[in-house]
Amino acid sequence: MTPNATEAGLALADPKAYADESRFHESLALLRRESPVHYVDAPDYNPFWAVTKHEDVLEVERNHELFLNAPRPLLATKELDRLNRERAEQGIALRTLIHMDDPDHRVIRAIGADWFRPRAMRAMEPRVKELAKRYVDRMVDLGGECDFAREVAVHFPLYVILSLLGLPESDFDRMLKLTQELFGGDDEEYQRGASDEEKIQVLLDFFAYFQELTEARRKNPTDDLASAIANARIDGEPLNDFDTASYYVIVATAGHDTTSATISGGLQALIENPDQLDRLREKPELMPFAVDEMIRWVTPVKEFMRTAVRDCELRGVKIREGDALLLSYPSANRDEDVFDDPFRFDVGRDPNKHLAFGFGVHYCLGAALARIEVRAFFEELLPRLGSIELAGTPESTATTFVGGLKRLPIRYSLD
Ligand code: HEM
Repeated sequence: MTPNATEAGLALADPKAYADESRFHESLALLRRESPVHYVDAPDYNPFWAVTKHEDVLEVERNHELFLNAPRPLLATKELDRLNRERAEQGIALRTLIHMDDPDHRVIRAIGADWFRPRAMRAMEPRVKELAKRYVDRMVDLGGECDFAREVAVHFPLYVILSLLGLPESDFDRMLKLTQELFGGDDEEYQRGASDEEKIQVLLDFFAYFQELTEARRKNPTDDLASAIANARIDGEPLNDFDTASYYVIVATAGHDTTSATISGGLQALIENPDQLDRLREKPELMPFAVDEMIRWVTPVKEFMRTAVRDCELRGVKIREGDALLLSYPSANRDEDVFDDPFRFDVGRDPNKHLAFGFGVHYCLGAALARIEVRAFFEELLPRLGSIELAGTPESTATTFVGGLKRLPIRYSLD
């Protein structure tokens, strides 16, 4: 049954709705058509405006002095919003870049920005390529059949980011579990426990791990990103413990599930569109376009939120001071007014003005790295690939935040 606008809006606050991609996109298309700035009042959530048009997401992101990230940068349940507010008042809340606004945001972002510039990222390329080869080799070892999402895609980007941070390989599995508990928070399969208290405990575990790392890098600085964060100075003072730990958390988490979801979803799109797979193999020079098309297609970050600091209008709709707006990136990236045939997967799409990395002052710090990773993986895989097909039904994570495939059973021949 086709949903009406109210039902379509409620889907944005329902983690399970995100796991059913075609229905979810049906709801978003309806909102774009009928109610592009739509008020959502879902039972377990504080109300918000769903912003579904590309142009409007861009306008909100551009106006970062009118629409702030604080105090509600992400969609969370009422209960979690309350707990986060309480912890913020006690000074013990997570305060990452996405929780901040200027002037703090500008200063704190600059600490990591040098590390993530395209030139610095190019220096990382050999290590990324080496890891890509390791994981394609692993596919060979798995003997022609695997769950690509779980056995390959989930490991590669995490290991890249942990290498960048300078963490020992012996800690990688522990980090994998913690990031899944943190980011797959709405999906029962990944939850440590269902309660909001338990979700917050996951964060505190992260903090404890990174606090030790900070102390170690302050004692013995090396040339990794962890040392840059641990030894950063603002007006001559080091970051406090929460800001330091928050920095690690955003890098370790933001750089992981996003890219692995893109690689899995990108591979699924190539399998389901064999003409596009053939085209890419015949014309490897299309790879940079294919990478951005995979990122648009998957759009692994489903939303960020903003809060209006004063009364204003968006597309003629009155927004009041203190109202929250949810920026729906998957919707913006299928907007018929911006993309030619948006539901076609086109490895040569150009132009491709997708908003999967956001826009403006919060534009994804890791965009260059993410592109290098996705490209390195497929440049290693495609020339070695014989045949490939689905070997079961793909399954997506139920989450309103970062997600994509959690299962991608495939059968292949590879050398
Ligand atoms: C922020 C998407 C990979 C680090 C963001 C934002 C989005 C995003 C939508 C918010 C932008 C906004 O509010 O305008 C993605 C996607 C990725 C990806 C789709 C992969 C395909 C990465 C990687 C890293 C990373 C690999 C780091 C290693 C960050 C950080 C921020 C951020 C630190 C916060 C920036 C700020 O608030 O100033 N990302 N990301 N991301 N991303 Fe990514």
